[in-house]
Amino acid sequence: MLQGKRAIVTGAASGIGLATAELFAELGAGVVLADVDLDRAREHADRIGGVAVRCDVSKAADCEGAVAAAVAAFGGLDTVFNNAGIIRRSTVEDITEDDWDLVMAVNIKSIMLMSRYAVPHLRAAGGGSIINTGSGWGMSGGGRAVSYCASKGAVVNMTRAMAIDHGPDNIRVNCVCPGDTATGMLADEAAQLGATVESFYVDAADRPLGRIGQPREIAQAVAYLASDAASFVSGAILPVDGGGTA
Ligand code: NAI
Repeated sequence: MLQGKRAIVTGAASGIGLATAELFAELGAGVVLADVDLDRAREHADRIGGVAVRCDVSKAADCEGAVAAAVAAFGGLDTVFNNAGIIRRSTVEDITEDDWDLVMAVNIKSIMLMSRYAVPHLRAAGGGSIINTGSGWGMSGGGRAVSYCASKGAVVNMTRAMAIDHGPDNIRVNCVCPGDTATGMLADEAAQLGATVESFYVDAADRPLGRIGQPREIAQAVAYLASDAASFVSGAILPVDGGGTA
């Protein structure tokens, strides 16, 4: 399905990014696993036959380096999955300015940076696919997550703007919006709220599919958007959330 595709996955050392890097590799793509956690990225890259790069997606030079690494390893670039993200569970009253700036830098500025360096190579390849990671909370609000909701709402509309700008170069830009998914982020959120991870499972029980998602289930949607099967899909905002936003 992705035979011969050349991809960068950010935040690939764990969770949804890792599941996607694994699936991309299984489907025949060459994958750069870009993450701040180089040791874990390298461990997984060695296992799946990918290339690990230390990349803080909020830093221009690191994004430029990740793109350069993909081009050096594979001779070009076809797909970027802008997945790295963080959450801070706070309101406007208790969030620090540093946390606000960090969430915005990692969740939204990063997409501008990584895409800016990737687009010339996608164009040179005759087109390509950029997939951004939004959230159910990019389409509705959520409690005690004001910076996260603001950043993910921006990801959703930035996706549409990018689809308009780069469509003429046959570059498709889409957004997946996961619902609660069993990753380290969920554990991080629970810790920030003084709650248990199990409480997320209880909350999910009254949603249409009655459960939270697994990283592989998000990865499958990303693989579709990266593939030629989605050749006429651009500017789409795809909830992958078991009906949570239905
Ligand atoms: P995770 O915490 O399991 O993985 C995130 C990865 O990003 C980690 O490997 C981490 O080292 C890396 N990372 C963090 N900051 C980085 C930076 N500055 N530069 C590069 N890498 C960085 O999280 P998960 O759940 O896999 O999240 C992936 C994306 O999915 C995020 O954008 C998140 O907002 C989104 N999402 C997750 C949901 C969930 O319930 N898990 C729900 C909705 C959206």
